[in-house]
Amino acid sequence: MTSMTVNGEAVRYRLDPQTPLLFALRDASNLTGTKHGCYSGDCGTCTVIVDGRATLSCQITIAEAEGADVTTIEGLSADRAHPLQQAWAMEQVSQCGRCDPGFIMTLAALMRATPSPTTEQLATLPNICRCGATLRILKAVRRAAEVAAPLSSQAPARSQHGPSRFSNGSSSESQIQPNDS
Ligand code: FES
Ligand code: FES
Repeated sequence: MTSMTVNGEAVRYRLDPQTPLLFALRDASNLTGTKHGCYSGDCGTCTVIVDGRATLSCQITIAEAEGADVTTIEGLSADRAHPLQQAWAMEQVSQCGRCDPGFIMTLAALMRATPSPTTEQLATLPNICRCGATLRILKAVRRAAEVAAPLSSQAPARSQHGPSRFSNGSSSESQIQPNDS
């Protein structure tokens, strides 16, 4: 039995402790907003927030997440009111939509501490959009930052933030180019 908190609710999984968190979330918790992409730590599609950090759920077992506080795209906001979700809709980012949850969760973790990410930070996001929606994604981030920055000045940023457990170390690898179209 593996216990953790998922989207604010206590969860106990009767699964092999080596089960990837991704499959526990999707198959046992029916939280299918978290997508399965490469399963090798290379695409960021499966990103969730674990204890405040963007985490590749395909690269962490439920045993490793024991006792953790996990947030999936379903738990990011009750009514899709998070600035990133609103900006995604306003900029009509989605094409196939497969990369969206991973991008949003990575950015949500980043923007908790850095409400207005720099171009350099955006250029090193470990997420990939196969549909070429990069320009719209960047526009959405800028739109969300316009909302998030004033809000953040009213509340202290969380101490933990940013990508972690990206097993391929790709945080230093440029996969989004700010001038892409
Ligand atoms: S599915 Fe691609 S990084 Fe997890
Ligand atoms: S919208 Fe299809 S992968 Fe990004």
